[in-house]
Amino acid sequence: MASADLNALEAKLAGEITSAADVAALDAVRVSAIGKKGAISELMAGLGKLPAEERKTFGAAVNQLKTRVTERIDVRKLSLESSALTARLATERADVTLPVRAGAMADGRIHPVSQVFDEIAEIFADMGFCIAEGPDIESDDLNFTRLNIPAEHPARQMHDTFYLNTPNTAHGTNASPFVLRTHTSPVQIRTMMSQKPPIRIIAPGRVYRMDSDATHTPMFHQIEGLVIDESTHFGHMKWCLEEFCKGFFEVEQVKMRFRASHFPFTEPSAEVDVGAEAIGKPGQWLEILGCGMVHPKVIANCGLDPEKYQGWAFGMGLDRITMLKYGIPDLRDMFSGDLRWLRHYGFSAFDVPTLAGGMSG
Ligand code: PHE
Repeated sequence: MASADLNALEAKLAGEITSAADVAALDAVRVSAIGKKGAISELMAGLGKLPAEERKTFGAAVNQLKTRVTERIDVRKLSLESSALTARLATERADVTLPVRAGAMADGRIHPVSQVFDEIAEIFADMGFCIAEGPDIESDDLNFTRLNIPAEHPARQMHDTFYLNTPNTAHGTNASPFVLRTHTSPVQIRTMMSQKPPIRIIAPGRVYRMDSDATHTPMFHQIEGLVIDESTHFGHMKWCLEEFCKGFFEVEQVKMRFRASHFPFTEPSAEVDVGAEAIGKPGQWLEILGCGMVHPKVIANCGLDPEKYQGWAFGMGLDRITMLKYGIPDLRDMFSGDLRWLRHYGFSAFDVPTLAGGMSG
């Protein structure tokens, strides 16, 4: 075969490669050219019959032809694949802005307390806080003792604790009994025992106290906050809580009042009120949380050095601020599991609160 024939073969293959409409057609061209019985492969197989001189030049020409054809096939393959992908994406496009179809997904509602927790998490995540969790059933030790509330301390009565009959055998017979946690503060202990500072967490959850009337239910929700490092101070806490209130109530300015208070696990301690103009009731104060600098004894109880580390914590009731923000009149309705109530006060699963998009949708 002369070099003119090689040129003709190359031109023919080039044409076939260009006009291959899809990957399968292209593969057929590849087989016809460089497959076992392909035109180029046959030429190579025939080289042995040529005189030595010719074999050298012709062999080199066939080899180069093979390289060029292979390259053309590869380039065409890439372009066919990418247009196939583009076509597929076009047919599979989903319009995520379409309304949800009627049915279970559209009917389901997020409980206002869950929605409010998501709002709070969004605000604190923006300030660099992580989310921590602890169990509802706690040992007396974590719920009280390590929080500097020793046995016989009056705070234990104040909390109206539910004790469990099941003995705690985790650490031998003298282990402290189980309780339903009376606050989310044991998550402070769990976190300090398992993480090295700097620590910045919030911890939501259910808490239990033997209390039941128009404004108290035996189960309610709290959110705990804890910051521990080598230098954080009361001023940082005030700023964070103020930022939180502005974000949560969606107002530019918020009036806050820190009243001196007492908790065994913080010193100094404060209770925080916000000016009720934030929810359209000027002239009133609403108590929303307790807070303070973590007591050095509590830090030491968790195996950290109180000379090196310091920090602050807060505990806030979720249910009341949920009722305040969303105009829910009766606490007990929140946990009665009445679907009519949930349909009225609940949120669509698609109303995800974001700082950019708005907290209350
Ligand atoms: N645990 C306290 C309560 O339930 C609230 C609190 C938490 C106070 C953290 C100070 C620091 O009343």
